[in-house]
Amino acid sequence: MTMPRESFGSKLGFIAAASGSAVGLGNLWKFPYITWENNGGAFVLVYLAAALMLGLPIMMAEIFIGRTAKLSGAPAYKKLGGNKWSKLGYLGAAAGGIILSYYMVIAGWSIRSFFQCLNWSFTGYVQPDSKEFGDFLADSRAQILLTLAFTLVNAFIIFLGVGKGIEKATKIMMPVLVLLMLYLVGTALTMPGRDEAFSMIFSLDFKNMKPEGYLEAVGQAFFSLSLGLGAMVAYGSYMKKSDPIISSAAWVVVLDTLFALLSCVAMFTIILSVPELKEHLSGGTVGMLFITLPELFYTKMPGGLILAPLFFVLVAFAALSSTLSLGEVVTSLLIDRKGWKRSKAVMVSTTFIFTGSIFAALSLGGNQFLSKLNFENTPVLKIFFHNKTGVLSLLDHLAANWLLPVGGLGVTIFVGWFLHSDFLLDKLGLKKSTIGFKLWLWSLRVLAPAAIIILIISVALGKDFS
Ligand code: TRP
Repeated sequence: MTMPRESFGSKLGFIAAASGSAVGLGNLWKFPYITWENNGGAFVLVYLAAALMLGLPIMMAEIFIGRTAKLSGAPAYKKLGGNKWSKLGYLGAAAGGIILSYYMVIAGWSIRSFFQCLNWSFTGYVQPDSKEFGDFLADSRAQILLTLAFTLVNAFIIFLGVGKGIEKATKIMMPVLVLLMLYLVGTALTMPGRDEAFSMIFSLDFKNMKPEGYLEAVGQAFFSLSLGLGAMVAYGSYMKKSDPIISSAAWVVVLDTLFALLSCVAMFTIILSVPELKEHLSGGTVGMLFITLPELFYTKMPGGLILAPLFFVLVAFAALSSTLSLGEVVTSLLIDRKGWKRSKAVMVSTTFIFTGSIFAALSLGGNQFLSKLNFENTPVLKIFFHNKTGVLSLLDHLAANWLLPVGGLGVTIFVGWFLHSDFLLDKLGLKKSTIGFKLWLWSLRVLAPAAIIILIISVALGKDFS
């Protein structure tokens, strides 16, 4: 007996879940830091163009696949395109599992920082010595327990189902996220670094932009908008036929982009308000989020006592609403492909992914072999892993630089070239081709694949986008 497919209660439910997926560590940490590295302005504009011209069309394509097939991942591709396209779904589930396994580790840090800040807020801030965070990363027990805690919360919500779990949780978390972000930005804007931050983020200085910045923007758009591995196929499959694709996708792109810009404004302002910090800021590490910011909250910011713990609630919620979508990709594949009950699918996928997480969690100093692992001198593998060291970095590089772009390319070819345009029109409920439809198809057929192919080639030649 087949059970009726679950669905989101409303268009708003889809938007909460999908924008929850999109808004995550990619916005809070990755975007500010690569914007910083690319000297701001011009990079931001290129990112906006990438999100609009590639991100939006590919998001619509993924949602289209899910909403039309009413299935997720591999079974969806199989239903619409036959067996050979289902590989794209398996690739996506693999990528989802990989990202999840290391994302969970970083997400776990937010729990620790929250309690640390809570403690500081009540008993007074004591500046930790410079080794403190490194010691914490190398503490295997702490890493594994925090990762496990986050994994269990994530699994429990997914187990509750699409409507009662994911939709309900994201409908609570997203408004909180928006309020906390506005509060953070509002407070940051009272600080002296404001003007410098704005001129850095919004001045258009193409001379300072490195050529790789263009491609980095494309890679970041994929990661930040949760594209390339079927997360939006899964969420699209729970949409009602009557829910619109264009406006839902547009909402997600707009919200995600606003979040990225706001977190840039907040972080740049806070950092630029402390002159001595600017010179030796190692933006390239997660340090900015977990070490530099807490210190500034307590020492430089008005109302920091309250803001600091709240900020890590923001980080944890942003991360959790993202891990829900990654987990759902793997879970829904097992449900749709194997016909398993949700509970069994969650149990099996969680066990697998947590096993992967253990390797990532121990690769930050806890275990020498895992922390030092690299393929710099291994032919062939070097192409896939570049000069990354340690399991967590290796997995991030593999997923962000290879699996997402390849998956995204597959989606553009599948919807742009393989599916017939009459079929697309019919399923979209359009009588004839409109300008918007033509633009969409043009982006899927030409613009997006060309950009992605350039991206893949340059990654193969050794450029790192993670
Ligand atoms: N978009 C999330 C972020 O910015 C990460 C994420 C969640 C993701 N689901 C995804 C990335 C699916 C790629 C594919 O942090």
